[in-house]
Amino acid sequence: MSSTLMRTTPALRGALRSAAARPATMASTQFVRGKATLPDLSYDYGALEPHISGQIMELHHSKHHQTYVNGLNSALETIGDAEAKGDFTKAATVAPLLNFHGGGHLNHTLFWENLAPANKDGGGEPEGELKKSIDRDFGSFSTFQKQTNAALAGIQGSGWAWLAKDKDSGALSLVTRANQDPVAGNLIPLLGIDAWEHAYYLQYQNRKAEYFSAIWNVINWKTVAKRFQA
Ligand SMILES: [Fe+2]
Repeated sequence: MSSTLMRTTPALRGALRSAAARPATMASTQFVRGKATLPDLSYDYGALEPHISGQIMELHHSKHHQTYVNGLNSALETIGDAEAKGDFTKAATVAPLLNFHGGGHLNHTLFWENLAPANKDGGGEPEGELKKSIDRDFGSFSTFQKQTNAALAGIQGSGWAWLAKDKDSGALSLVTRANQDPVAGNLIPLLGIDAWEHAYYLQYQNRKAEYFSAIWNVINWKTVAKRFQA
């Protein structure tokens, strides 16, 4: 493995290892014989309406996410072949694709689990220890929401906003990532909101603040709490 590749992707490699090692009940990223596969959703494409349209969900999941899955598998295969041949230059040139598609696969897999129909587990507010930690680190849930919406609005181009937990201190923080860069290292991603245009444009066009406002109606706080307690 070239030093360039190792410098470029350690965070992603850690995130992929963590996802693969997760117990079945928490497993979200699926690997079949070393290959990533598109995870099933636990709800229908139209189940998040009117907040996120069925058309967006179908395209987002079956086309966009599938493209990241395919790109990740292709990058892994190319890097594996390059490693086997000792062609570290080739492996290093593929590293950005591994980061992009691998991050895209991980981020979207977490994102689908962060959502639920509003008449089921979606919406409302966090409870218990998660609520206490949000109150402690942000002041209140409402402040956390406002800061998240401001962070989402401030993303230039494509990216994500995440509620993350520090592995050592347990402190919660709000972080943004450009493109498909994953939240990794010492931070555990708890809740991710996709700010790419493909996540809202068909329904909200340029009114992305409306999408950021509507998505709170379908946030699955049970999933966030499970990741918080893990
Ligand atoms: Fe997306």
